[in-house]
Amino acid sequence: MAAAGHAGSMDQVTFDVSRVRAAYPALGDGYAYLDGAAGTQVPRTVIDAVAAAARGGIGNAGGAFPASHRAGAIVTSCRQAVADLVGGRPAGVIVGPNMTTLTYRLAGTLAATWKPGDEIVVSRLDHDANVRPWIQAAARAGVTVRWAEVDIATGELPAAQYDGLLSGRTRLVAVTAASNILGTRPDVAAITARAHAAGALTYVDGVHATPHGPIDVRALGADFYATSAYKWSGPHIGAVIADPDLLETFRPDKLASSPGTVPDRFELGTPAYADLAGVTAAVEHLAGLAGPGADGDRRGRLLASMTAVAEYENGLFAVLLGGLEAMEHVTTYGKAANRAATAYFNVAGHTPAEVAAHLADRKINVWNGHNYAWELTGALGIRDSGGAVRAGLVHYNDRSDVERLLAAVRELAP
Ligand SMILES: Cc1ncc(COP(=O)(O)O)c(C=O)c1O
Repeated sequence: MAAAGHAGSMDQVTFDVSRVRAAYPALGDGYAYLDGAAGTQVPRTVIDAVAAAARGGIGNAGGAFPASHRAGAIVTSCRQAVADLVGGRPAGVIVGPNMTTLTYRLAGTLAATWKPGDEIVVSRLDHDANVRPWIQAAARAGVTVRWAEVDIATGELPAAQYDGLLSGRTRLVAVTAASNILGTRPDVAAITARAHAAGALTYVDGVHATPHGPIDVRALGADFYATSAYKWSGPHIGAVIADPDLLETFRPDKLASSPGTVPDRFELGTPAYADLAGVTAAVEHLAGLAGPGADGDRRGRLLASMTAVAEYENGLFAVLLGGLEAMEHVTTYGKAANRAATAYFNVAGHTPAEVAAHLADRKINVWNGHNYAWELTGALGIRDSGGAVRAGLVHYNDRSDVERLLAAVRELAP
């Protein structure tokens, strides 16, 4: 038994990490999977759902025959599942291959409504997938880009600075709900409230935030919320969630022959139906993480489960971060008050690539480099020297993963 907590009106909700780990076949290979921030493993139920969809026969959706009806039902279920996960409406769930592809698509679509002299605000904290698509679209439209800066000493993205960045010309604020290297969770609600007061739309990158706790897109003030299922135990599928009434106001480029309805008109070509079945199974899996104590509808179970996940990860992260910070030969980056369980660090006398190779020899999976946090690693002054090492926790990591990492990093002391 690893952690216990209460959530909403639920009875005692438990988080049993050994039960959770048993659901993941890949975790049996003896490696410590601390690379979840780059993509999680998938539970058996997801593997089975993808296989069952393929085995059962899938046609293209919209036809007269049962295999086609099954494809349509897979899409409908997937939209409902993703909506439940983030507190959105199924008719506002756009699915696609990954967050980057969808964000480029949305950037092109939104930018078609921008005029020269308009402005957008991006942040130095963000993964490049929530920066470059907007900057490139802005350049094409003659739109000015303003930057929200990170406090390098703390890794925070202060919300108050947006007062000086926004104006009546601001059309969009793009900001992350959690940094994929420092874990920083900015006060997104405070940022989006300022954006809305200025009349701007908000595009929130939830790729790193979604696996680490309960998400409510309305409370976040996210007009658009992007997430990727492969970061939360699902297949390699991305989704953007928006209010369907807002989507009705945009006209993305599309084929003359493809559906003109929302959200379908934002999706290009034939979807990966079997993988979408896996997305639904992943959401079901997350809803069940809190154990048998959680009951009620799926949204309620998700809130309970993800609250228990956050509590569990935070406890384990304190051990990980405390252990790294106690080592004199280790430099850690970021000290945000509100943080997803992601550590980013360097080891004196070793390049990040050497550290990652040393850890791989000891069966520990971590990432090294800029991890696409292009602007942030530039601001930290480490992008050109190879970035740093990222060790991220997700719900299936346990104390032994953390202890193995700490012992292996300790071996590198001079
Ligand atoms: C915070 C964040 N945003 C965006 C992305 C890009 O997501 P995708 O791989 O789905 O395009 C990632 C991927 O690592 C990420 O961590």
